[in-house]
Amino acid sequence: MSSAQFKFGENLFVLPVVSPTDGYMGIDVSRLRESAGLVTYDNGMANTAVCKSSITYVDGENGILCYRGYGIEDLVEHCSFVEVAYLLVHGKLPTKEELNQFSTYLNEHSMIHEDMQHFFTGFPPNSHPMAILSAMVTSLFSFYPHIMEGDANFDITAARLISKVRTIAAFSYKKSRGQPVVYPRHDLSYCANFLNMMFNSPVKNYEINHHVVKALNQLFILHADHEQNCSTTAVRLVASARGNLYAAISAGISALWGSLHGGANQAVIEMLQMIYDDCGDVPKYVELAKNKENRFRLMGFGHAVYKNYDPRAKIAKTLCDTLLSIINVNDPLLDIALKLEEVALKDDYFISRKLYPNVDFYTGILYRAMGVPTNMLTVMFAIGRLPGWIAQWKETAEQVDGKIIRPRQIYIGPSRSGFVPIDKRM
Ligand code: ACO
Repeated sequence: MSSAQFKFGENLFVLPVVSPTDGYMGIDVSRLRESAGLVTYDNGMANTAVCKSSITYVDGENGILCYRGYGIEDLVEHCSFVEVAYLLVHGKLPTKEELNQFSTYLNEHSMIHEDMQHFFTGFPPNSHPMAILSAMVTSLFSFYPHIMEGDANFDITAARLISKVRTIAAFSYKKSRGQPVVYPRHDLSYCANFLNMMFNSPVKNYEINHHVVKALNQLFILHADHEQNCSTTAVRLVASARGNLYAAISAGISALWGSLHGGANQAVIEMLQMIYDDCGDVPKYVELAKNKENRFRLMGFGHAVYKNYDPRAKIAKTLCDTLLSIINVNDPLLDIALKLEEVALKDDYFISRKLYPNVDFYTGILYRAMGVPTNMLTVMFAIGRLPGWIAQWKETAEQVDGKIIRPRQIYIGPSRSGFVPIDKRM
């Protein structure tokens, strides 16, 4: 089917239809204003495709997530995060040589300019790490203004950003603790390097555990992309105005920080702690979340697209089970989380609204087990999401027929009226 018909009053309008490889067909309404004098209204753009993309596919009804055509379960099982980063940015899995080259770039570009270290001291000690991350990423443009175009060169730009964000995150943690920073090491893999930069110190040697490294790779893969969500839309919005890569990613970081989005992983841990402190009274909080007279929601529950179990949450839940027992961590918040899921998923309120645990429900518990503090949980999400944002920025920047994203509105303010001078105003 290549067109749809739309009747308004006595008039019939023919609208072109855009076909996908998988998923829903889209009705092209871009000329509707000219032909029918109408705009479409779609609160939150929940049913609007803002672009054509070949990066990630989500089937929310069936709980399916694929990056460049590969299922998330396979990628988590068989790939490293760096391999998946390459896949997202380039659209194909790397050969051994390509992966080695990309890893070399990650190593070569892992340091941040020494002058940038002064920035950390300008922040108050209890600054939120997402505020620091977003400011530091946008500042990177001042130090590295050349965004290299073309696939081979863009590798360096992508590797630079993916590598430096990890260094910035670890340095900001060290600074917040008043400890000396730990520089990246060339002999360590991406995730092992991050753990070393975070937790090694002159007084306590951090032993890198390969189970933790593997789990961190898997978590970052789960976070790596999720098509046109709130933060990715922010990235594409900036990119559509031909905004630079760092500015666009910084916008993405700011959007991700919100508690209805990636900030939910911090909010989940805070909520589980609150329930734990309240004698673990799970049913009380399930009731509270159902009551519309307050704004409390079960954090880590529900999703704008998944109306089935989020496949990422399924993987994270299994990972919780295995990792915590392997590294001998007994987190009472995991028991609260399991109980909360059990109670909620038997409750008609959650069943009828198709509200299931999302990616943020179990991932915070995993990061905690690794030693990551609660206020850094969304930073972990951002590090993982970076390859996806970079791929989405690149796709937007390279579209020859790309348009600046500039939605319309339904104006509901006052109609134009005569100006009232100040001495006549009531
Ligand atoms: N707890 C209680 N009720 C909920 C929840 C929740 N977590 N989520 C949705 N609902 C209810 C709403 O109150 C609404 O009820 P109603 O029909 O009686 O009015 C109904 O379910 C539909 O909710 P919407 O807000 O319309 O759903 P939407 O798809 O727009 O929102 C969102 C998705 C924002 C994720 C929502 O489910 C939510 O707030 N969840 C908690 C925050 C969270 O975990 N965010 C992380 C999402 S994953 C990510 O971004 C990485």
